[in-house]
Amino acid sequence: MSQFLYRSREMYCENVPISEIVNKVGSPVYIYSKKMILEAYKEFDSAFSGIDHLVCYSMKANSNMNICKLLVNEGSGIDCNSGGEFYKALKAGADPSKIIFTGVGKTEEEIKYVIRYDILMFKAESRSEMRTINAIAGEMGKKAPIGIRINPDVNPKTHPYISTGLAENKFGIDSSMAFEAFDLARSLPNLRVVGLDTHIGSQITSLEPFVETAAKMSKLALELKREGHNIEHFDIGGGVGIKYNDEEPITPAELAAAIIPKLKTTGCKIILEPGRFIAGSAGILVTKVLYTKKHKNKNFLIVDAGMNDLIRPSLYDAYHKIKCVSLKKEETITADIVGPVCESGDFFARNREICKCKQGDLLAIMSAGAYGFVMSSNYNSRLRVPEVFVDRDKFYIARERETYEDLIAKEKIIEELTLEL
Ligand code: LLP
Repeated sequence: MSQFLYRSREMYCENVPISEIVNKVGSPVYIYSKKMILEAYKEFDSAFSGIDHLVCYSMKANSNMNICKLLVNEGSGIDCNSGGEFYKALKAGADPSKIIFTGVGKTEEEIKYVIRYDILMFKAESRSEMRTINAIAGEMGKKAPIGIRINPDVNPKTHPYISTGLAENKFGIDSSMAFEAFDLARSLPNLRVVGLDTHIGSQITSLEPFVETAAKMSKLALELKREGHNIEHFDIGGGVGIKYNDEEPITPAELAAAIIPKLKTTGCKIILEPGRFIAGSAGILVTKVLYTKKHKNKNFLIVDAGMNDLIRPSLYDAYHKIKCVSLKKEETITADIVGPVCESGDFFARNREICKCKQGDLLAIMSAGAYGFVMSSNYNSRLRVPEVFVDRDKFYIARERETYEDLIAKEKIIEELTLEL
């Protein structure tokens, strides 16, 4: 159940009024509900209780260490996509034996860093990558556990930028080459093949793509096993969508009921990598109306958050509900809700019906917990905003607002640069 609800026409997160948080930390600010994060994790994990499985939270959705820590304490593993995510996961207390190291372009430095720990597996995405991991493992006297990511060529029916399992996408190894890839991995002395892996895309709201993938990949897992390959883990990836507007996404229970029978045939431990499902609905971005104006027939609400804080609308034309934090009046207007960044693409909503707000009013951009803060930037030299966690009737700053000093912390003026040509 959502924890962003109104009491006496004021929006709360759990038992804390949003306005109280803004009074303390300012605007804009990301606010997360601990309860919603934990409930989403538990819903997902318990849906798959009928099969030996491990949920590995895909921390690219929201890598705030507090989310990782909460989930790790609940028994979750972590799916990391970079050396930086791996570092943060360890700092948050993740057990390396429950970490998967993913990524279509792992650098040698990242492989060297991660291989020192006994992780669950590296996901190999190409044959050249397998050779590189093998060479590094050899130099370091290690045997690297490998899951091989196969691209199943399934259409996830989602936004083209977040579809990953089509043959035209860069991810994984083409399914027609699966046997060659597993044979190669087996022949490399410093690799230990442990699994088969796939991931078809994100914000998937229907069952069919998952069912098709589970069917194709379970068949492949059995064929590989028959050839003597060691497939202990079968990782079906993430991708379960959430409700942003009027979608009717599948539930984890529906997904589990639809794919467990297929997955069981493999005899493997199943790994799942939800990201958005766990963090997405649990977070909002609160922003303040700076100015209102009108061009011919168009109303604009200019807010203090920008595309650098939440890029999803600009990048994917993604829809996020926008609500007034304080429901003072019934009256509504139709307006474009735009940010201060110097780009026409800096918008959160266009032609949106919204309560008639005025300067200083607070708006909540809903379902911003996943792919929100993590995709933010300093564009226009804007300061990245704080992240706040609410736990029942208390709130905690989990990341401070950046300062101007932070902006130049890694930059230096080169005194030697002259005006001479
Ligand atoms: N596993 C792998 C290998 C992935 O690439 C991803 C997401 C996930 C798991 C988690 O997927 P989820 O359960 O969150 O759908 N920035 C985009 C989404 C990019 C997803 C990238 N990969 C957005 O804002 O919609």
